[in-house]
Amino acid sequence: MMCRGLRLAGWASLSLLLALTGKGQASNMNCTLASGISDREQKVLNLLEPISNQDFSTSSTDGTYTYYFRICGDAHGAGSAGVVQEDSKSKKATVIGRYNSTQAFNGSDWVMLIYGGGDNYTSHCGKEQRRAMVLISCNRRVSAGNFEVMSEERDKARDCFYLFEMDSSYVCPETHLSIGSILLIVVFCFLCVYLVGGFLYQRLVVGAKGMEQFPNLSFWQGIGNLTADGCDFVCRSRAHEAPPTYRGVPTEPLGEEPEERDDHLLPM
Ligand SMILES: *[C@@H]1O[C@H](CO)[C@@H](O)[C@H](O)[C@H]1NC(C)=O
Ligand SMILES: *[C@@H]1O[C@H](CO)[C@@H](O)[C@H](O)[C@H]1NC(C)=O
Repeated sequence: MMCRGLRLAGWASLSLLLALTGKGQASNMNCTLASGISDREQKVLNLLEPISNQDFSTSSTDGTYTYYFRICGDAHGAGSAGVVQEDSKSKKATVIGRYNSTQAFNGSDWVMLIYGGGDNYTSHCGKEQRRAMVLISCNRRVSAGNFEVMSEERDKARDCFYLFEMDSSYVCPETHLSIGSILLIVVFCFLCVYLVGGFLYQRLVVGAKGMEQFPNLSFWQGIGNLTADGCDFVCRSRAHEAPPTYRGVPTEPLGEEPEERDDHLLPM
């Protein structure tokens, strides 16, 4: 019994490891572009590859339907269906869009994913195939989530669609460092190297102890003192009024007593 349990645990951890290392492989991405081959659209899809192994679902606000969504994979187990609508009571599934008919385009911080080729409308929209549009917006706080159904546009003769929204950090623009921040980082690095290098030099080569290990201590102390003087001069507005009152307090009692005694002594 023990042995079997151990072996099971071993297999479980091995398959977990395989699942983890296999994550994000191209095999998850089964989308076929409706337009044939497009480098641009393929690049947009590649942005979403890291979250292609996740299932998303949401309920309509009145609770009549549940929607399932997967990026370039089978949603809710239905063959080639990327978005599936399930009736909450009858459990009847309707394919809203298939990933073998995908379109994808992006803006600076969003991606629009469109699955065509869904099940035909029975009466609306000229009985055309259903279509799902998923707007994925940049949100740096979630890798993928907040999948929601927004609206169903079906009161027209054709080009109807279901609109969904989702958040993902994978569609966020790459942050480019400005020249200013690069300069700051370089200066900071030099400062670190200077401090650590100087410290080691003072300690190991010069053999300094305590505060003296600080590189160019006297120079920086001089700068510090100068700055303090400057500050004193510029910032301390009451510099000339303050000293007499403070100085007077401790000296008065000491100075007065002998004077008073002298005064008494003089007339005698
Ligand atoms: C997509 O797949 C469905 C079912 O698997 C099939 O009926 C349909 O013809 C396919 N569409 C395209 C464009 O290949
Ligand atoms: C779309 O995403 C790509 C990255 O794959 C990016 O280089 C490009 O700027 C984005 N398009 C727009 C309009 O921002």
